[in-house]
Order: sequence, then C-alpha cells, then structure tokens
Amino acid sequence: MTGRDAPFLRACRREPVPFTPVWLMRQAGRYTPEYRALRARHAFLELCKTPDLACEVTLQPVARLGVDAAILFADILLVLEPLGVGLEFARGDGPRILRPVQSADDVLRLKPVAVEEVLRFVFETVREVRRALGGRVPLIGFAGAPFTLASYLIEGGASREFLRTKRFMRAERPAWHSLMATLADMTSDYLNGQIAAGADAVQLFDSWVGALSPADYREFVLPHSRAAIGRLRPDVPVIHFGTGTATLLPLMKEAGGHVIGLDWRVEIEATWDRLGHDVAVQGNLDPAVLLSDPAEIRREARAILDAVAGRPGHIFNLGHGIHQETPVDHVRVLVDAVHEMSAR
Ligand code: CP3
Repeated sequence: MTGRDAPFLRACRREPVPFTPVWLMRQAGRYTPEYRALRARHAFLELCKTPDLACEVTLQPVARLGVDAAILFADILLVLEPLGVGLEFARGDGPRILRPVQSADDVLRLKPVAVEEVLRFVFETVREVRRALGGRVPLIGFAGAPFTLASYLIEGGASREFLRTKRFMRAERPAWHSLMATLADMTSDYLNGQIAAGADAVQLFDSWVGALSPADYREFVLPHSRAAIGRLRPDVPVIHFGTGTATLLPLMKEAGGHVIGLDWRVEIEATWDRLGHDVAVQGNLDPAVLLSDPAEIRREARAILDAVAGRPGHIFNLGHGIHQETPVDHVRVLVDAVHEMSAR
C-alpha cells in the first residue's frame, strides 16, 4: 500500500477507505522522551536546520504511534527568519520576532527572499524523509498561512487579542495587503518546494485566523490565502486549517483546500453538512481529552466516528496540537481506537 492508494490520501480525495486514517498535529512534540532527548542536545532551530536530525524527529512518532501519515518536522516561522526580522525560540516562552513590523516603512524594509535557496534545508529534509519512509505512509508538508505569519511579524510573538495586527490592518491597508501578498508568494513557493522534494500533501496552518470577524476575513485574508493555495500544484491535497473558525469555515473553503480542518468547538457532523460534502474534513478531538484516562479517550473518539458515520472524506485528527503534558500511551490508545472502531 504505497503512493496514491494510502488511506490518508484517499480520504483527502473523499474516496472510500478500509478504516479512518488518523494523524496528529504536534506529533513530534515535547511529550515524547525521544524528542526530549534530542532537544537536550540541540536547540530547536538547529534541529529544524539539520536535515539528518529533522528527518529523525519526523520519523520518531510514525512507528511509535502507528499514525497514517508523517508530518514534516519544521516550523511555520522558518520562512520569516530570512526576511531579516530576527527569529528566536527562547526556552519556555515560545517564538519571538526581535524586530517586529510596526509601520508601512518596516514592510518596505523586509528583505526579498528566494525561498528555494534559503529554505533548502527543509527540502533536503523532505527528500531524506521520503527515502526513509519508503512508501510506508505519506508525508505531509506544511506552511503558515499569510495571516498567521503576519500576526507573528507584527505582534513579535504569541498574542491573545491580536490588537497590533488588527490596528495595522485598518490603519495601513495598502501596506497590509502588500505584506500579505509577499507572504502568500513565499508560502506557495515554500509549499511547492516541499511538493517538488516529495511531500504527498500539504497543510496550510492559519492557526490564529479565528480572531477575525467574517467580514474582516473576507477583506484582509481571503484573497491572499486563495492566491497562495491557487498557485500550488493542483493534484496534491491541501488541508486548510485554523482554530476558533466556526463562523469562518465557509470562507476558508472559498479560499481553497481539499480538506478543511475543524476544531472541537464545532459539531463535526452539522458543520460538514453546512460546508457541503464536496470537501473533506479533518478533526476534531479536543487535545485536552488525551489527558483523560483511556476509557474516556475511546469514548470521545467513538463519538466523533459515530457522528461522521463512515462518510468518505474524514481524516481523524485533533483540533489543534498535542499538549506537552500528554502521556505517550494515551496517544497510542487514540490511534489504535480510531483504527479499530472505524474498520470496515
Ligand atoms: O506537528 C508537528 O510536530 C510537526 C512540526 C511542527 C512544529 N510546529 C514543530 C514545533 C509544526 C506543524 C508546527 C507548526 C506551528 N508552529 C504552528 C501552527 C500549528 C499550531 O500549533 O497552531 C505555529 C503557530 C508555530 C509557531 C510555534 N513554534 C510556536 C507557537 C511554538 C512554541 C510553542 C510552545 O508551546 O512553546 C513553536 C515551537 C515548536 N514547533 C515546537 C515544536 C515541536 C516546540 C519546540 C521545543 O522543542 O521547544
């Protein structure tokens, strides 16, 4: 079972599958001892930039967890570093942009980036992973969507309210659209590079776009996400993902993607009906459920599978990344439960 017939890729195309494929965001995360062991010896950016190590981290969870796809080990913020804004992953408090974008002039000062060259290490990792996987499971590449990338550039790091970003959008409309167009170009070059290197599918992470109203999404985001997705090779499945997006999902579908990511704040069945079954869906377990006992994890997985009722085009996933306190055994319980309970 290799290539286009892998259940994960069939599900992306809404074809019938023998069981519901499952993969998990942040499967390379800090909850596994083998990742922590590597991290004790290498900084996060060093792991990302060393293809042998990034390949090793990518493969770690595949055997241990029995997931149906591998997700590349990298980060959505890697594309921002070559812009000259200073990117740091400080231990404990997440990513930081040292020279955030604060004005229209700052947008003009961003260095032009030839993604194919500066992110060569990522493409090398993709090639290595593909060789090492030997067709066992497909490889998912990924990138940040323009809005989520812009929010890091403008906020300088994580944010709750995205006030600087929202102020910038309105106060500096032309500069905002020019920044978003640049990020959209970089995103599609980056994803096409991963596809050329062997990624079987790609996920576009618009993790924080749920902070916006539908009207703002339409004006400030949709044209750019659509442009980024529209330039991708059409035969490669695209998963379009965000969180807190209940009211934005139809617009995200309009922007593009073969699969739409759903978080746990929506009911999977009603939401899929509303979106239309001409698109596949991915989700939507609350990652916090993995902190409960195995019986509870199985019950929650069952509830999602029952709601979907075997319709082709469902990929099982969490609604967001795994929390670092998650016991690894619980993750395995989930993957096994989904496979067992969905077997047809
Ligand atoms: O799913 C995977 O494990 C694949 C690799 C991957 C990472 N980041 C590795 C990582 C992926 C797909 C991402 C995407 C990413 N990165 C997103 C979108 C997904 C999401 O979670 O919404 C975002 C917003 C980022 C930015 C980022 N990178 C943040 C906010 C953090 C810090 C988180 C924290 O809790 O401190 C990172 C660091 C990061 N990226 C880690 C990993 C495994 C942890 C790094 C470490 O070892 O300390």
